[in-house]
Amino acid sequence: MSQACKILQASAKNIDLCVDLLRDEAVVGVPTETVYGLAGNALNDVSLQKIFEVKGRPMLDPLIVHFSSIEQAEIHAEFNERARALAAQFWPGALTLVLPKKDTISDLVTAALPSVAVRVPEHLIFRSLLERLDFPLAAPSANPFGYVSPTLAEHVVATLGDRILAVIDGGACKHGVESTIVDLRDPDAPKILRPGPLSAEQLGIQDAKMELKQSSNKLAQAAPGMLTQHYSPNTPITLFGHDEQPSNVQKSEAVLYNTKPAGKVAENTFWLSEGGDLTEIAHNLFMLIQKLDVRDYTQLKVERAEHVDIGIAVNDRLSRAAAK
Ligand code: TXA
Ligand code: MG
Repeated sequence: MSQACKILQASAKNIDLCVDLLRDEAVVGVPTETVYGLAGNALNDVSLQKIFEVKGRPMLDPLIVHFSSIEQAEIHAEFNERARALAAQFWPGALTLVLPKKDTISDLVTAALPSVAVRVPEHLIFRSLLERLDFPLAAPSANPFGYVSPTLAEHVVATLGDRILAVIDGGACKHGVESTIVDLRDPDAPKILRPGPLSAEQLGIQDAKMELKQSSNKLAQAAPGMLTQHYSPNTPITLFGHDEQPSNVQKSEAVLYNTKPAGKVAENTFWLSEGGDLTEIAHNLFMLIQKLDVRDYTQLKVERAEHVDIGIAVNDRLSRAAAK
């Protein structure tokens, strides 16, 4: 079972190597501006099968397809004017659009749905692969199904290293949480299916539904695969309120605050940002959780983020990570 997965520096030679691997139907770990992806040829059923196998992902959970440009995306998805306007404003970037699919997209990608999720990523390494290939890349986050998404190449090796040949190193992912997914099949009623780096306000979308979901513990399944329990480390997570204190902390437990606490801090105390900056909190969230997950803590007690901007995405991931 063990094959050594190489962490490749992003040299021209290594990009060539990955282009060859992808043309040969292999799957490769790639950096994106959100989280690391597990990329394969989106127009090839053998590659698509491998993505599901490597991740241990149920076939009912559809994949996002990544393109080098909006023109490429329009070949495979049916755009409306509102989708074009959002794509023009936010691509390349952390926005995924769900649109009616065209016949070129296989049922394996969409879990047999008539819609497909599409995105033009910003990360230069990912873009250089897409520009070299004559097919788009399907890429879920490069973690075993249900586990925390990777934000470092090392995370990919630690969890999928015995199942893939290579991951390209792009350093720590800028955003640290997955893209915002917007259902734009009906241009007059756009819906945020997954909060992410781009907020409803930035996108100009009324987001009543998401508010409702956040206030409920039993999160509705807004999209296939958006399971209530997801992003879970092995160490159990419990949450405490923003700007509040956790109760009854044991030495065996770790506490994760948004902001560095004042004064002397205990050894089991950690923080996501010196000054409580929300983009920094998101950037560090999965990284710190994975770092602490391999220590011997019996529980991670994590402070919820302020519920605005990317803090909404942070709270979404935290709720799912803490769900039993
Ligand atoms: O930032 C990201 O989006 C990362 C990077 C690698 O691009 N990718 C990512 O993919 O998060 P993944 O597979 O972990 O999450 C994709 C989610 C699915 O679980 C599903 O909820 C939603 O996208 N999705 C995909 N196709 C859909 C469709 N046709 N309708 C509704 N939701 C869909
Ligand atoms: Mg994922």
